[in-house]
Amino acid sequence: MHDLISIKDLNRELIEELFLLADKYNKNRHAGGFEDKVVAGAFFEPSTRTALSFETAAKMLGAEYIGFRSWEGTSLAKGENLADTIRMLDNYADCIVMRHPNDGAARFAAEIAEKPVVNAGDGKNEHPTQSVQDLYTIRNSFGKIDGLTYGFVGDLHYARAVNSLLLALNMFKPKKVYFISPESLTVRGEVLRTLNYKYEALADPNKVIDEIDVMYITRIQKERFTDPYEYKKVEASYRVDLALAEKMKSSAIIMHPLPRINETDRGIDRTKHAKYFAQASFGVPVRMAVLSKILGGKR
Ligand code: NCD
Repeated sequence: MHDLISIKDLNRELIEELFLLADKYNKNRHAGGFEDKVVAGAFFEPSTRTALSFETAAKMLGAEYIGFRSWEGTSLAKGENLADTIRMLDNYADCIVMRHPNDGAARFAAEIAEKPVVNAGDGKNEHPTQSVQDLYTIRNSFGKIDGLTYGFVGDLHYARAVNSLLLALNMFKPKKVYFISPESLTVRGEVLRTLNYKYEALADPNKVIDEIDVMYITRIQKERFTDPYEYKKVEASYRVDLALAEKMKSSAIIMHPLPRINETDRGIDRTKHAKYFAQASFGVPVRMAVLSKILGGKR
């Protein structure tokens, strides 16, 4: 594996291999073995979990971690272009982890860099390591990913975490997938056209809530709207409350890539359905697995 730009760069076999590595790192977080490596984090967009879990993962593997968390602190603020910034990181590090507000920015970086590039989120496009983490959470909850009914709730139009996970499910056999959102926030056509499983879009979750095994919620991706008026129209258009969560099957789980704003009732935290904090904690072992695979070799 060289770059990880899209979830489509992986296949089911590789994903399952990453799960086994993540299991190993979950048991032994201070694994080390990569003391001769440097990982660079280039975060051009806000991040808490992704940036910190990549940094923690690199350090747990024994690697050095360098980088920046906002472009304001870099020479981009002086007018340097992205390509030159990438060329520099390519000199200093063995692997570049990049988050950027523009769709396609990670692919662009991978074309310039000789070292591997890992996409930590590019615009509304993809967030592949989040998907591996999400799939790992599902597999750890149910022992499988196939045969389950999924309900995606919220901003399915701009959320890159949803986008990558929908593409990832093409490699598995979901029983059915529901897209629950206001019409203007449903999955984009270019994504829908590539899905190889049964799906249905609807606005009211109550109709299907008792069928769902995995509910995946996202916040409205306010920063992706070009027109503030369009955002205002959907701002408070959905919310998963405790009453809805209580209608779920007892084994059902609720996931969220976080951050959450006000689309999720905090009361859900106390229910057995809430899996989002466990999901977030898997960010470290899963990213250790990804980095170790990319940095190479058996150690
Ligand atoms: C997500 C992202 O940045 O795409 N956050 C994350 O990485 N956990 C989801 C979001 O911002 O809503």
